[in-house]
Amino acid sequence: MFWFCSPVKLVFTLPQNPNFFPHPPFSHHTMNEDEDPRNGVVSENNHHHTPKKPKLTQPIISEPEIREEFSHHQPGIARINNGSFGSCPRSVLTSQNTWLLRFLSQPDDFHSNTLRTGISHSRALIKTLINAQNVDDVSLVDNATTAAAIVLQQIGRRFARGEFCRNDAVIIFHCAYQAVKKSILAYVTPVGGSVIEVRLPFPVRSNDEIIEEFRKGLERGRENGGRVRLAILDHITSMPSVVVPVKELIGICRENGVDQVFVDGAHAIGSLRIDVSEIGADFYVSNLYKWFFSPPSVAFLYCRNSKGSDGDVHHPVVSHEYGNGLPAESAWVGARDYSPQLVVPAIFDFVNRFEGGIEGIMKRNHEEVVKMGSMLAESWGTMLGSPPEMCASMIMVGLPSRIGMTSDDDAMRLRSHLRVYHGVEVPVYHQAVRDGETDPRDKDGYITGYVRISHQVYNTVEDYLKLKNAINQILEEGKTCKMLPKERT
Ligand SMILES: Cc1ncc(COP(=O)(O)O)c(C=O)c1O
Repeated sequence: MFWFCSPVKLVFTLPQNPNFFPHPPFSHHTMNEDEDPRNGVVSENNHHHTPKKPKLTQPIISEPEIREEFSHHQPGIARINNGSFGSCPRSVLTSQNTWLLRFLSQPDDFHSNTLRTGISHSRALIKTLINAQNVDDVSLVDNATTAAAIVLQQIGRRFARGEFCRNDAVIIFHCAYQAVKKSILAYVTPVGGSVIEVRLPFPVRSNDEIIEEFRKGLERGRENGGRVRLAILDHITSMPSVVVPVKELIGICRENGVDQVFVDGAHAIGSLRIDVSEIGADFYVSNLYKWFFSPPSVAFLYCRNSKGSDGDVHHPVVSHEYGNGLPAESAWVGARDYSPQLVVPAIFDFVNRFEGGIEGIMKRNHEEVVKMGSMLAESWGTMLGSPPEMCASMIMVGLPSRIGMTSDDDAMRLRSHLRVYHGVEVPVYHQAVRDGETDPRDKDGYITGYVRISHQVYNTVEDYLKLKNAINQILEEGKTCKMLPKERT
C-alpha cells in the first residue's frame, strides 16, 4: 500500500527539454534549523515547512505512475536498502539519455555551448535548495568519496607546507565511512597528521550522548599537545545509521579552535533538510544519487566562502580548468559522460509531482520508516536503535537475540540469506555488547544484531512484512546465523 492519497496538487511544471532553463521550480524553503531537530538542534516545534504555493496545476502522481517510474526494479525483491545505492526514476533516466544523445549528436557544439550552462543551471538549483550564499560555493562532483579527497588533500598540503604540525589531528566518529577513513590514511597520516576517533554511542537515546562523547574526543586532542585541524562529522552515519546533531557539534568545534569542519552528508539531500548557511560547516557534501533520485553518480560539494579559502581547494583529477575555482575544475575532469550532472532540473520535475515536493517526500519517508521500524521491533520483541527524531528515512531495528549474531561474518551470512532465500535486500549490522554493559536486551538475551531499513517512495508495507516474516521463519526453524549456509554476498 502506498502512502499517497490526495488526488490533485499544485505544482510547477518544467519541460523535459534540457535546453530549457527556467527558474528553480520552487523558491528555497525558509524553515530554519530550530524547526528540525534532525538538522542539529532540538526544539519543541518540529513541524515541516510548506514550500511556496506554485502556480500551475497538475495531477498528483498516482500509484500506478510511481510503479511505472520504478518499473526497472527487479520484481520480487523487497528493496528496503535505498540508503546504499538510491534509486532513479524512469523520467530522470529518460532525461539523462536525452542529454547523452544530445552530446553524441554534436559533441563539439555540446562541449562548447551547452555543457557549462547545463551544469551551472544544476548548481543554481542546488544552491537554492541548500540555501548556500553563492553559487560559486557549490560544485558538482561524482560522489562523497571524491569530495573527501578534495577536502583531505587540501589538509594534507597544509601539513606538507609546514602550516600544521606533527601531532595535529583530524577528529572523526569511529563509524565514519570506511572510504573516508582510508582517505585520511592516504592523504593526511603520511604527512604527519594523527586521527582522533570518537565512539558514536549506539543504541543512542539523545543528542546529548553524542555531544558528550565528541567533547571527550576534543579533550583527547588537547592532551596530545596538538591542535585539531579538521573535524569530519557525518550528518547521517552509514552503519549504524543515526542523524548526528551537526550544528551543535560545529558550534563546539568553533569554541574549541578546530580549524575546519567537513560534514559528510552522503545520505542527507532528499532525506533531511539541509541549510548550509545555518549548519555553518566549511565543507558539506551530499550524494544526489542516494535520496535525491539522480542516476549514478553525482554529489554536490559546498565550500563555504570558496573565493576566500585561499584558492587551495582543488579537484583530485587535474585538467584544463586547474586554478579556475572548484566549480570549474569539477565541471571538466576530461572527456567523459556528464549527463548525471545535467539531470537536476528533471529531478525537480519528478519530485514536484508529489504532494509537498521533496519536503513532502522526506516527511512521509520519515514517518513511514519509523512506523515500519516500530512494527518490526514490536513483532520481534526488540527496539529501535535511536529515537525517531534521530533518524531521517533510515532507521536501525534490533534483531531478536535468538538469531545468535556474534560477528560481522554472521551479519553477512544473514544478509545474503535474506537476499537469496527470502528476496529481501537489507543491510545487517553486528555490534558486540561492550564490557560492563547491561543492555540492549530482549527477553532471551543481548541484542547484538540490527537491520537498517530505508523507506523511499516506491516501498510498500509488504516489503517490511516480508522482512518480518523472514526473520520469524528463521527463528521458528530454530536457526541461528551460524547455521545459515554461506552464500555469495
Ligand atoms: C556516510 C557516507 N559517507 C560517504 C559515502 C561514500 O559515498 P560514495 O560511494 O558515493 O562516494 C557513503 C556511502 O554510502 C556514506 O554512507
